Amino acid sequence: MFRRLPNPSVLGFRFNASTFHRTMTSRAVLHASQLVTLSGPKRPRVGKELSALRIIRHGGMLIRDGKIDRVGPSDEIEKNVGDAEVVDAGRRVVMPGFVDAHTHLVFSGNRLDDFERRARGETYEQIAKAGGGIWSTVEKTRAASELDLLVRAKQHATWFLRCGTTTVEAKSGYGLTVEDELKLLRVMRQLKEEVRLEIVPTFLGAHAVPRELSPDEYLEVVITEMLPRVTAEKLAEFCDVFCERGYFNIDQSRKILSAAKKVGLSLRGHVDQLTNFGGAKLMAEMGATTADHLEQTDEQGIVALKKANVQPVLLPGSVYALGSSRYPRAREMIEAGLAVVLATDFNPGSSPTPSMPMVLSLACAQMKMSPAKAITASTVNAAYSLNRGDKIGSLEPGKLANFAIFDCEDYRELAYWFGIPQTHSVYVRGDCVWNISTGR
Ligand code: NIG
Ligand code: FE
Repeated sequence: MFRRLPNPSVLGFRFNASTFHRTMTSRAVLHASQLVTLSGPKRPRVGKELSALRIIRHGGMLIRDGKIDRVGPSDEIEKNVGDAEVVDAGRRVVMPGFVDAHTHLVFSGNRLDDFERRARGETYEQIAKAGGGIWSTVEKTRAASELDLLVRAKQHATWFLRCGTTTVEAKSGYGLTVEDELKLLRVMRQLKEEVRLEIVPTFLGAHAVPRELSPDEYLEVVITEMLPRVTAEKLAEFCDVFCERGYFNIDQSRKILSAAKKVGLSLRGHVDQLTNFGGAKLMAEMGATTADHLEQTDEQGIVALKKANVQPVLLPGSVYALGSSRYPRAREMIEAGLAVVLATDFNPGSSPTPSMPMVLSLACAQMKMSPAKAITASTVNAAYSLNRGDKIGSLEPGKLANFAIFDCEDYRELAYWFGIPQTHSVYVRGDCVWNISTGR
C-alpha cells in the first residue's frame, strides 16, 4: 500500500533541510477518495467561489521536482506513472497543506497560570493587569537564548506539520527590545533552514508596550531603531501591530504601519479583538493585506475592508480559548464579498493550538461557515494573504507539491470529527515530512 519514504526528523535536532537528500524526483499520488484541488481563478476566492473546491473523485496527481505536474482521475495518472515513486492514498482525502496565516510561533514558557485564572472566570485584560498576559511571555522569551528558542520552535513546527499545515506565517512580538525582537526573527530564519515547514516572517514589535518605556518612547524605538534593522537584515515580509485599548491606539498604530509601508513591508494588524476600536477602518485606510481578529468589528468596518480589498483573517481558536462567545461575523463578511481567511493564532496565551482542523470545526459550528468555505479560507485564500497565491494553497500544475493526506473519505469529516487527529501523512515540495506510522 503506502510505500514509506525516508523521513526527515524535525524533532531530531540534527536534521537540516539543506542536507535532506531527495530519493526521488518524481512521485505519483494515486487512489485519493477525493483530490481536493481548489483550482480556480488566480486570486483569492469570494462569494460562491468559496464553496468551489473542485474535487476530483478517485483522483491522482503527478509530481516532478517538488512541483505538481498534473492532476486528474487516478487511473489516468496511473497510465503516466513511468518511473515515479507511487504513493497510494488508499481512498483517503488528499488536499493542499493548510496555510496558517496568523501564528506566534516563537516564544518561551507557557501560560498555564493564565489558563487556570480564566477557568476561574477572570478576563484576558484582568489577567494581563495581574501580571500574566503577553508581558509574562515577554519576560520568559527575553531570558531564553536563541538556541533555546530554536529548539522549542522546532517542536512547534512539528506540531503544525502533524496537523496537516505546510506553511505558517510567524510573528515576533515577545521580545520588545531591539535585540530581543531581532533575536526572534533570526530564530525564524534559522528555523526555515532546519525544518520543512514553510515560514513567512512578520515583525510585530508593536505587540505591547514594554514596562520600561512609555508608549511614545517605545513607538520611537519601533520606528527608528527596530524597523530599519529588520529591513536591513531582510528579516520580515510583513509588519503587524496590536491596535487595541491598552496596547497601541489608532494614531500610534497608523504611525507604525506608515513607517513600515515606507520601508517596503506589507501590512497586517490585530484589530477590533477586544473592543470595536476602529482598527478595521485603519487597516483599510493603510491598504493593509489583512485585518486579523475582527471579533468586535461592525458593519461599517466590514464595508471599509471590502472597499480597500483587505482580507479578514478570522481566529476562532482565540475566541474559544478565551472563553468568549463573540465570534467574528464571518457570514456577513462573506456576503459583503470579502476573501475570508481562517488561521489558528497559535500562541501561549489566547490560542494554544496549532490545529487547523480544530479551527475548521469552530468555523463551522460557531461561525456557521460551511466546511467547503472553511477549507478555501484556510488554504488558497490564506496563501494569497501571504502573497504566495501563485505558489501554494491549491493542487494545480506548477504549484509546489505541498499537500496532506487525511485518514477520511470525505473532506467534511475534517471539520466534523473534532478532537481526533486525522492526518495520515504530509508532503512539502513532494517530500514526505510527516507520517502517521513513524510519527515524524
Ligand atoms: O493574537 N492579541 C494579541 N496577541 C495575541 C495574544 C498573544 C498573547 O496573549 O500572548 C492574539 O490573541
Ligand atoms: Fe495573534
